[in-house]
Amino acid sequence: MNSISFVDLGKQLETIRPQIDKRLNDVLNHGFFIKGPEVKELEADLSKFCGAKYSIACANGTDALMIAMMAIDIQPGDEIITTPFTFFATGETISLLGAKAVFVDIDPDTYNIDEKLIEEKITKKTKAIIPVSLYGLCSNLHAIQKIADQKNITVIEDAAQSFGAKIDNDFSCNISNISTTSFFPAKPLGCYGDGGAIFTNDDALAEKIISLSNHGQTERYTHHYIGVNSRLDTMQAAILIEKLKIFPKEIELRNLVAQKYDAKLKDHFKTQKNPDNYRNVYAQYTLEISNREEFIPKMKAEGIPISVHYPKCLHHQPIYQKLGYNDSCPIAESAAKRVISLPMHPYVSDEHIEYISKKVLEHAKA
Ligand SMILES: Cc1ncc(COP(=O)(O)O)c(C=O)c1O
Repeated sequence: MNSISFVDLGKQLETIRPQIDKRLNDVLNHGFFIKGPEVKELEADLSKFCGAKYSIACANGTDALMIAMMAIDIQPGDEIITTPFTFFATGETISLLGAKAVFVDIDPDTYNIDEKLIEEKITKKTKAIIPVSLYGLCSNLHAIQKIADQKNITVIEDAAQSFGAKIDNDFSCNISNISTTSFFPAKPLGCYGDGGAIFTNDDALAEKIISLSNHGQTERYTHHYIGVNSRLDTMQAAILIEKLKIFPKEIELRNLVAQKYDAKLKDHFKTQKNPDNYRNVYAQYTLEISNREEFIPKMKAEGIPISVHYPKCLHHQPIYQKLGYNDSCPIAESAAKRVISLPMHPYVSDEHIEYISKKVLEHAKA
């Protein structure tokens, strides 16, 4: 049996190598490495895919979050409601702008923010809600938007892990006021470096986001905002154009892999619950176990890489402790102690799924 990768980008590249080579060669030949024609082409393709009127490429998913918040003029002291069970960047960008992250516990079935707990945390200072569509499954975005609309606040979906996911026929990145994603290589749609994008249907917000991501310029050397340098480079756009073409097929393959893991493991361990009308893109296949510390080295010894998304809630991170955060989010805290993620990508072979599942059943305790 060949070795098991957590994410196998090599296998994917094999399927599209000539197209990628040609695209990169085209960029080398035309030489527009920043804001080249491929960036516009990709933005149009992303909009066509997810339905958002504006898709604005930027340098990474962290900048995408920060720019989205800058676009709604987040100021020091503003409060932003979010989940503590996410990658650090979600909280980091809130804090970087001087705002206060208000952490709301997660739903135990989906691991996404529990929308039923949001309203009680809204105050006069609340400016936005940032639900994170974790592991590739949308948060309950329609319900969250409804709560926000009633209170006149903005929803920014952190869709770093969920581009391509759907609720009924509505795509992640086209449900909330603004959405952001990441094209980090290991993401469901990843490039070969850093990349990200911001999505909205709002003309004025889009104009501001475009400007903020390019030094606040509206035209060359005329700056209306204090912005940032956060452009997606042309090479990455060229790669993403080709990867987007095989993305629908890859989403199907990810779902097939997940179904096969489910068949072996779902009856034995708690996994992320996928509501019937949601399409998950399985950025991760995650389950809960009780003996994580001994389990991970045992799996490593069996040749199986395991990750943990995420071992610590944001409010328990040293910096947030130092900043005096003392939130209590018991469901997220319990999940953080128990979750493990299995190798997940579109090309996990049946042989590997069989072997990984067998070893999970052998070494993990529910
Ligand atoms: C939920 C979430 N938000 C934000 C980010 C940040 O994206 P990037 O690594 O592209 O800056 C990530 C990436 O890991 C993520 O998973």
